[in-house]
Amino acid sequence: MENNQFYDEIDEIIWGLVKKQPDFYFLMKSKKGIHPIDIKLSLIRLRRKKKISATLFRSIIKSAKDKGKVVLEDDNLLPVPHLLDYDWRFSAEGIETMLSLINKNSKRNHSVIAFIGTPSLFKMFFSKRETKNQYILIDKNADKHVHYITRYAQNFSFKKYDIMEMEPLDIQADLVVMDPPWYLSYNKLFFQLANNIVNRNGTIICVLPPKYTRKNVDEEFQKLMQFIKDLGIERQHYYKNMVTYNTPPFERNTLKANGIYCMPRGWRTGDILIAKKIDKGTIDKASIVISERGWEEISIGMVRYKLKTGFDIELKSFDLTIESVFKNDIYPSVKRRKTRAEKTINV
Ligand SMILES: C[S@@+](CC[C@H](N)C(=O)[O-])C[C@H]1O[C@@H](n2cnc3c(N)ncnc32)[C@H](O)[C@@H]1O
Repeated sequence: MENNQFYDEIDEIIWGLVKKQPDFYFLMKSKKGIHPIDIKLSLIRLRRKKKISATLFRSIIKSAKDKGKVVLEDDNLLPVPHLLDYDWRFSAEGIETMLSLINKNSKRNHSVIAFIGTPSLFKMFFSKRETKNQYILIDKNADKHVHYITRYAQNFSFKKYDIMEMEPLDIQADLVVMDPPWYLSYNKLFFQLANNIVNRNGTIICVLPPKYTRKNVDEEFQKLMQFIKDLGIERQHYYKNMVTYNTPPFERNTLKANGIYCMPRGWRTGDILIAKKIDKGTIDKASIVISERGWEEISIGMVRYKLKTGFDIELKSFDLTIESVFKNDIYPSVKRRKTRAEKTINV
């Protein structure tokens, strides 16, 4: 889609919403799949085009700062989501939506259900003490999510797995449920893995980015549809903006830094594609390269640090020191006054 056409379409939607209710919380809540920062940029364009008055513009921008309109989300899952894992977790409502889709698509008992990059759903089935199927979590952070699995839960298993390594897995799943990072190369890798583990006539439920997430989403979607067709997977249903997410801490901070404090529940939405493995397809494996060099991870309490070291080292908490990049960038102490005997911290 052309740049201008994409932004013109967003502006049309935002203008239509502003005419109904000129309030940022309402604009975010509309679930059109437009990111709040893009909503703000659209308001700026609408102001420039004189479609909205200066007074109305100021009042909407002011309403974004409404700290009273912040929902408390019930994301008690460990680990804390990290941006470098592209980790956006479903909201409680989103989990219910996915549950009902999974139930609709797995009628038989004794099915094998594989969750690729969907730890919240795996956890939800575990907490319901489901016994009728086998449940497998496949995720690069699977080991960090499964502290709750006890020995008696024999129908729950997990595989810590980095999709970029494409190591073969000995799994035959009847249903695959996945939520890849929202980029074409990741979508292709996730589908390639799903294709390797799903049985003939098995179903794949995949979350994909809504149209207004980025300007090339439509184009990427067309390429992905061709790719899955070549794998022998047939598209069956597509539901727009169907599943909702929580706002991870890293995104809350970004929004605040952009003057957006109000936070309607489940403002972020994802589309759902339901597809079926129908035949062998014309390709087995495509070469998909994602050039992201590995990150080393270390956790201190709840905080997860990702470091690029350039070589493999075994990190221990006491290895970590922060070096100054510019003058006064490191806060010297958590206290205003310190005695000589007190240790300083360098964060
Ligand atoms: C968009 S999040 C989906 C989380 C899901 N909405 C949930 O609530 O369970 C993407 C997921 O893919 C996983 N992931 C990201 N990169 C990966 C990789 N290279 N290999 C395997 N999993 C990966 C993340 O750990 C994360 O769980």
